Amino acid sequence: MNTPYGGSLVNRIAHDPVQQAAIRDRARTLPHLTATARELNDLGLIGNGALSPLTGFMGRADYESVVSDMRLRSGLPWTIPVTLAVAAGVQPKPGSGLAIRDEAGGLWAVVDVEDVYEHDKRREARLVYGTEDELHPGVEAVYQREELLVGGPVTLLPREEHPLSLSPAQVRAEFEARGWNTIVGFQTRNPVHRAHEYIQKCALETVDGLLLHPLVGETKSDDISADVRLRCYRALLDNYYPSDRVMLSTLPAAMRYAGPREAIFHALMRKNFGCTHFIVGRDHAGVGSYYGTYDAQKIFDAFSAAELGIVPLKFENCFYCMRCEGMASRKTCSHDAAHHVSLSGTTVRALLREGKLPPREFSRPEVAEVLLEATAEETRV
Ligand code: ADX
Repeated sequence: MNTPYGGSLVNRIAHDPVQQAAIRDRARTLPHLTATARELNDLGLIGNGALSPLTGFMGRADYESVVSDMRLRSGLPWTIPVTLAVAAGVQPKPGSGLAIRDEAGGLWAVVDVEDVYEHDKRREARLVYGTEDELHPGVEAVYQREELLVGGPVTLLPREEHPLSLSPAQVRAEFEARGWNTIVGFQTRNPVHRAHEYIQKCALETVDGLLLHPLVGETKSDDISADVRLRCYRALLDNYYPSDRVMLSTLPAAMRYAGPREAIFHALMRKNFGCTHFIVGRDHAGVGSYYGTYDAQKIFDAFSAAELGIVPLKFENCFYCMRCEGMASRKTCSHDAAHHVSLSGTTVRALLREGKLPPREFSRPEVAEVLLEATAEETRV
């Protein structure tokens, strides 16, 4: 299995009860900020090492370097800012501490503040997302944030996670137990369809195992809920996959929709989970028409294979071909597009709302049934 990014897996969660009590005592004396759901997603991933080598939220130097050069100050490739925003009223001082709480007031962590700096949101939007358009859901989330950013290492209290949201250490232990050496990671935020299945299985032909790793953190409001997506995955795995070759676990990361830059970020996180390979298909992490179909593949050329340390497996746009009677892409099928079945998410949703199943060439019937049932439940509410 692969080594963690930067050499070792970070752990910022206090597992010792004495240390936990000390964090609680200290937090009572500190000003606090109420973190957003997205920030809490990032915080949890820093804590368990999914974002190794980060030990906290980025200070100005790392932030600037990531936004303009796609590297941490250390030179290590890193494409997405991981930041904590604070309302101007809180005004923490470098050298002091700040408690991080959720909306219900629950204490999550303490950050040792090293840096407080202005957030140039438009610049981040332009350079990281490739657009300043507030209709882009990732950009919109940036614009909605508070004005100042706070950088510094974090120490977290342990939390009860969803049983499927395993930490990198837990996933690695499972790979070890299964005897897998080469593992392909699969990122997804959408209900599984046959093109997903096809590229996963193409990859599975050449590696020991597949980590199916759907993202279950914050997504845009019209994406299908994580719960329904997991039901789809179970329906697919139970019927079409050998159970000893696949591991399903969830990743509580927030979706940025940053296309190419997020593809690198997604790959690096999966390296921390032990994956040696990572699937990048068409318009990975894209939204609308902000990115070119293969931009998320091309960006891997900006870095050397050695510095990323995880192999991208790049797939062309795949579809079902009626003439081939199977899944294919332009690389393997010469037939006219008229023979190809490929549906947009919008078309699928429209079918489901009319009470119709998407065609079996697009979606396995067992998965389509889950989606139909979920759509019916939604319309009843
Ligand atoms: S993403 O935002 O997580 O990228 P999605 O869940 O749709 O969205 O995609 C998961 C992975 O499958 C991504 O690597 C994406 O590029 C790839 N993918 C999705 N649909 C296709 C397709 N028809 N052909 C090839 N790759 C695809």
